[in-house]
Amino acid sequence: LTRERYPVQRLPFSVVSEEDLAAFERITPGRVVTDPEELEASNVDWLRTVRGCSKVLLKPQTTEEVSHILRYCHERNLAVNPQGGNTGMVGGSVPVFDEIILSTALMNQVISFHGVSGILVCQAGCILEELSRYVEERDFIMPLDLGAKGSCHIGGNVATNAGGLRFLRYGSLHGTVLGLEVVCPAPPPQVCTLLHPQVLADGTVLNCLTSLRKDNTGYDLKQLFIGSEGTLGVITAVSILCPPKPRAVNVAFLGCPGFAEVLQTFSTCKGMLGEILSAFEFMDAECMQLVGHHLGLVSPVQESPFYVLIETSGSRAGHDAEKLSSFLEHVLDFGLVTDGTLATDQRRVKMLWALRERITEALSRDGCVYKYDISLPVERLYDLVSDLRARLGPQAKHVVGYGHLGDGNLHLNVTAEAFSASLLGALEPYVYEWTAGQQGSVSAEHGLGFKKKDVLSYSKPPAALQLMQQLKALLDPKGILNPYKTLPARA
Ligand code: FAD
Ligand code: MLT
Ligand code: ZN
Repeated sequence: LTRERYPVQRLPFSVVSEEDLAAFERITPGRVVTDPEELEASNVDWLRTVRGCSKVLLKPQTTEEVSHILRYCHERNLAVNPQGGNTGMVGGSVPVFDEIILSTALMNQVISFHGVSGILVCQAGCILEELSRYVEERDFIMPLDLGAKGSCHIGGNVATNAGGLRFLRYGSLHGTVLGLEVVCPAPPPQVCTLLHPQVLADGTVLNCLTSLRKDNTGYDLKQLFIGSEGTLGVITAVSILCPPKPRAVNVAFLGCPGFAEVLQTFSTCKGMLGEILSAFEFMDAECMQLVGHHLGLVSPVQESPFYVLIETSGSRAGHDAEKLSSFLEHVLDFGLVTDGTLATDQRRVKMLWALRERITEALSRDGCVYKYDISLPVERLYDLVSDLRARLGPQAKHVVGYGHLGDGNLHLNVTAEAFSASLLGALEPYVYEWTAGQQGSVSAEHGLGFKKKDVLSYSKPPAALQLMQQLKALLDPKGILNPYKTLPARA
């Protein structure tokens, strides 16, 4: 499958031998997986579009073990694929050939949490939803949330610089991540404790994972690893700033008669809800049909061409409710919204969020999915969807648009009964050229991984690309970490 759709040649890495397996068994005793059945799930991505054939998966529990693994693999020239929850959308989380899978699944301990600062320090394999639960019990929330929360790891989130549903309010991980612990394969494997400027060159780890809000001592090296998609180092621990848990959360789910009205609702919303606005998501009518058809979810409002989900988070329920109700009155009076519903209790809030969060799942049940995740000027966000619907005609089963409108991030997805080269030809490079024409980004939040690495140049100039290649060569001179991913193959 992989080779047909994405022609690529295996690079001359070593092949895992019996001696290698014995060495891994010494490093991670009882945690070297070679059972083909157990390996199957880790060889295929969430979308089931990229499949590798790795014969070994390692489950380290500590940073020292990761360090030993990378040192060994560097010496033996063995390729390594770091893997978190394997929910990535661009084929970065699974091997392309026989790369060793290094899973963070057992690195799932909270290291510390400070109730005054809200700073959480934890191992990279902690599942996002479990961290959310942990900090919520202490009256804080995680600064990020996404539909994959039940499976994705915080290390994977940092490695992909995941955006998600709270980006509008709490911003990028480039701001909320305060420190990282990373293991790089460069000789000797460096455990870069970027949580604190104590870098050890001999592979041993100093366990002092403290975090600072302000630290201008030279280059902010941790930023390099945020969004590096496992190509520069393995993230082993994360320090992250958690906001206080809002006392009042409201969700409004609204139907809009057109995209112009969606945009006007957004402007009005920013003006009238300002500081309490915590999410502004949108989906079109076809998305609603898909979550209805495949997942049995029922629309809580009258059928409309577009739907928006607005969330407010604040400290005083009465104040927020009052603001929200005058906003709703305004948008209804002006015909920007034709129908709507409000939720304040947790069960209904979750139900409304599910309509938006579960679109990905509904799409994956609809057939072969062509996925695009792009940043565009918000005024033009839906033009590409309408344009493609006309361009593709009956070739496509569905052409849908949804996403993080508040962040200018469109998820454009096309489904068909089966993979078709002619449909792909109609989509690409058209979508990328269209995006570049708007000075947009060909990957807003999912990264490049295996599937999008060759379209990077639509959004980055040659000089930036060259610097990225140089950084890769510096930190991973043999290119053993996540080969075939993120960076285009050298000419
Ligand atoms: P994986 O999928 O395992 O890996 C992703 C990449 O990170 C790979 O390149 C891998 O090699 C690398 N990696 C993983 N762990 C490490 C580590 N410890 N050190 C170094 N490299 C590592 N993404 C968004 O941005 N916003 C969304 O709203 C969003 N919603 C989603 C909803 C659903 C239903 C699904 C299935 C996916 C969604 N995603 C979203 C995509 C995905 O969940 C994110 O990219 C997530 O951050 C990946 O985390 P993971 O632990 O699953 O990483
Ligand atoms: C989302 O916002 O739902 C995710 O990024 C996943 C997707 O794009 O389908
Ligand atoms: Zn998204």
